[in-house]
Amino acid sequence: MREIAVFGGSSHPALTAEICAHLAVPQRPVLLKRFANDCLEVQLQSNCRERDVFIIQSLVRPVQEHLVELLLMADAARGASAARVNAVIPHYAYARSDKKDAPRISIGGRLVADLLVTAGVDRVLTLNLHSPQVHGFFSVPVDHLHALRELAGHFRQRDLSNAVVVSPDLGYAKSAAAFARRLGLPVAAGAKERVSDSEVHITAIIGDVAGHDVIILDDEISRGTTVFELLDRLREQGARSIAVACTHGLFADNALDKLAASDVTEIVCTNTAPLEAEHPKLTVLSVAPALAEAIRRIHDGESVSSLFDH
Ligand code: R5P
Repeated sequence: MREIAVFGGSSHPALTAEICAHLAVPQRPVLLKRFANDCLEVQLQSNCRERDVFIIQSLVRPVQEHLVELLLMADAARGASAARVNAVIPHYAYARSDKKDAPRISIGGRLVADLLVTAGVDRVLTLNLHSPQVHGFFSVPVDHLHALRELAGHFRQRDLSNAVVVSPDLGYAKSAAAFARRLGLPVAAGAKERVSDSEVHITAIIGDVAGHDVIILDDEISRGTTVFELLDRLREQGARSIAVACTHGLFADNALDKLAASDVTEIVCTNTAPLEAEHPKLTVLSVAPALAEAIRRIHDGESVSSLFDH
């Protein structure tokens, strides 16, 4: 069996360390330098030859820096004769650029997928892509995990006798329905239209939320624009209480503080992105055990599908 070699980029050292601890393997050292002309240089400081190399890098801000770092690490591993280069990308930021919905824009999700493959990535392990079609942007195998098991485990500790799961949009309704099935709950969804990065309209909610304890489920919270708009509709429709859950807690523009200051009962996310702030209303669930198990199975040639079955 080929030896496993795990390297981490600079985006999320805590998650890399946790994954290595679960795998019981050492984290291999990486030297990152910046030249006077602002270019980066990455040196993998451990033997890659004929190794099964895993590079862990979440595409979180500064996204472009972390992306180039990941590309350089993949290229370095390939150039050092790795047997296989696996990119572990807990949050794939460019997934939101998944369609040409305005003239003369790039489908960034597809471009970044091509860049990763060009850099030498043979396989991708990721979590909760913004939309399912992004999976198909990659010309190499992708293991696409979700965090529904972790999120459902958290909410099972709550009184769910009057609860309903609400997706902010129809695009995420299928995942919300899968989450609701795990909890034995009904599901509802918002009719959402995004006007810009900072403006969305939710004109209606399909399903019954009046008098219910709502669990909002989304793939990510960025500025919180979506969730704040949904909170308005839910209050208008008489929801009894509202909790918020997502996989990627990005919380740009102070979104965590703003959300915590609202009447939501709790905010639950995973650690696919590093969090700078804490709050008593916030619970962060770890995806390190799931990612470590997926890495082990990929390395051992075992099925990964049971980890992402809905
Ligand atoms: C969008 O379609 C996604 O599913 C999320 O709702 C969105 O990315 C969240 O972004 P924000 O918090 O900025 O509205």
